[in-house]
Amino acid sequence: MNKKRILKMFAAIAMLGLAFVWACSKPQPAKKPPQNVAPKQNLPTGESIRYIFGFSQCTFEDPWRINMNKQMEKAASDNPGVKLVIANGENRNDKQIADVENFMVMGVKVLVVSPRESAPLTPAVEKAFDAKIPVILLDRKTGSDKYTMFIGASNLEIGKEAGKYMAEKLNGKGNIVEIEGILGATPTSERSSGFHQIIDTYPGIKVIYKQPGDYKRSPALHVMENALQAHDQIDAVYAHNDEMMIGAYLAAKSAGREKGMVFVGIDGQREAVDMIRQGLLNATFVYPNGSKEAIEYGLKILKGATVPKQIQLPTTRVTKDEALDYKGF
Ligand code: FRU
Repeated sequence: MNKKRILKMFAAIAMLGLAFVWACSKPQPAKKPPQNVAPKQNLPTGESIRYIFGFSQCTFEDPWRINMNKQMEKAASDNPGVKLVIANGENRNDKQIADVENFMVMGVKVLVVSPRESAPLTPAVEKAFDAKIPVILLDRKTGSDKYTMFIGASNLEIGKEAGKYMAEKLNGKGNIVEIEGILGATPTSERSSGFHQIIDTYPGIKVIYKQPGDYKRSPALHVMENALQAHDQIDAVYAHNDEMMIGAYLAAKSAGREKGMVFVGIDGQREAVDMIRQGLLNATFVYPNGSKEAIEYGLKILKGATVPKQIQLPTTRVTKDEALDYKGF
């Protein structure tokens, strides 16, 4: 090999080396996390933390859920050794499924889930239960019995109580608009069937319009606008929660038709309670969220206690003249 060729070869090798060094040092664009995967959270560590609770909350969108999170955080901080991590399901089943799976990977000691919809969340919850993680379901159920315990009020009973109250207020006669919650969530079907078990026994009472408002104020307002357009005579509204009752009231008020209409909701939200005290709305049923019980029972499970499969929380009817010391959240 002559000198020139050797020099050329060295130059080529040097170029390749430089290119390699440059490629390695070039800043890489940040990788976006996949859309429907919960952001990874690092487990807290430390001497004082012994029990990590993961709470998969279906949404942070409304006052009832915000209050639930607050109360659970308080219960966790009242129990030394407990660290609570809450994941926001963003009102999407796929996001909530990813959150549950993420908690499993994180190795939480107790998994608490308030499932957005029953069927889509069932396999993920079953998987956690099969992996021997204690699973506490709160307020909404899944479609199987593969969970450790359920904590919540009886939506069937609340539906029946709402039906009795409404039948009495209507003197056994009138047209009702029913605004349902999210269709695949268990409180929705139970609140509806309890209500109908009572109302359907009155020949003079009819549910003339029934549509989902997804437990949210503004969709409920639109449902009510449509109902008002379709029907000249509406005597009452049964809304599956207070946010939707307020939405329905606002629609009726804009149409100048709210006077004399009976409004019944569920939750015991402060804004609704205030409107009830002012005589604008008629009744709500307090729907306890079970967050404190979830922490307490979770700890019992971890300490080896046998716990009941179901804990039923009580409800209270709030009207203008009843439960006067109840303020709401
Ligand atoms: C909040 C909520 C409550 C309702 C519960 C039913 O997201 O809609 O208003 O009582 O969920 O699961």
